[in-house]
Amino acid sequence: MARQFFVGGNFKANGTKSSITQIVENLNTQDLPKEVEVVVCPPSLYIDLVVKENKQPTVQVGAQNVFNKPCGAFTGELCAEQILDAGAKWTLTGHSERRTIIKESDEFIAEKTKYALDHGLSVILCIGETLEERKSGITLQVCARQLDAVSKIVSDWSKVVVAYEPVWAIGTGLAATPDDAQETHKEIREHLVKTIGKDQAEATRILYGGSVNGKNAVEFKDKPDIDGFLVGGASLKPEFVNIIKSRL
Ligand code: 13P
Repeated sequence: MARQFFVGGNFKANGTKSSITQIVENLNTQDLPKEVEVVVCPPSLYIDLVVKENKQPTVQVGAQNVFNKPCGAFTGELCAEQILDAGAKWTLTGHSERRTIIKESDEFIAEKTKYALDHGLSVILCIGETLEERKSGITLQVCARQLDAVSKIVSDWSKVVVAYEPVWAIGTGLAATPDDAQETHKEIREHLVKTIGKDQAEATRILYGGSVNGKNAVEFKDKPDIDGFLVGGASLKPEFVNIIKSRL
């Protein structure tokens, strides 16, 4: 079964009303391929702005984080119901910056993922190993552990996209080679076959993230298990469009 090419843009804690409006206006003027699913994730303050400014039918909006409980007395958090109310349909969970800096656990991330899915959001679930873990040869074990926490409590993966983002490649300008990324994506998919079943594993999109840019995106074109990208820095720049078009 062909998996639809997917490009996510994670703005992280970057941008202002003015710069984010410009990014969306630039996307609005582009002739984007209809067959590519695009999701941009601005800082939560600007979700409403992006939803209102976006004119591209293939571009959807996502949050960068979500809480594992309904709206209530959780100061500083953002609940799934509010994300949907603002017009966003997606959220990221498990980004490595939240795993490493904010110290979110696999279990907490799994709970957020489940809560978001149960309440109607689609989820880009981020996984990936640190440099030390890669050097110790435990890349797949780390990814498997992060995935297993979710598959333990989520059985329907039809609204989950996995983003494999090796921590050492994020924001470093040092992307994984297409061959290395393909190898890990293949292993991730083989692991998913064992945990969520062959059909779901084959239907689940696995994105690569980490220093993807307008130039190198095309190098991943022929890799059968790389179904798209999750882009940080370059999603704030006009070259994001080249990444969206990199499979044409
Ligand atoms: P960069 O593309 O800036 O390396 O970031 C990747 C990322 O973390 C996307 O979520």
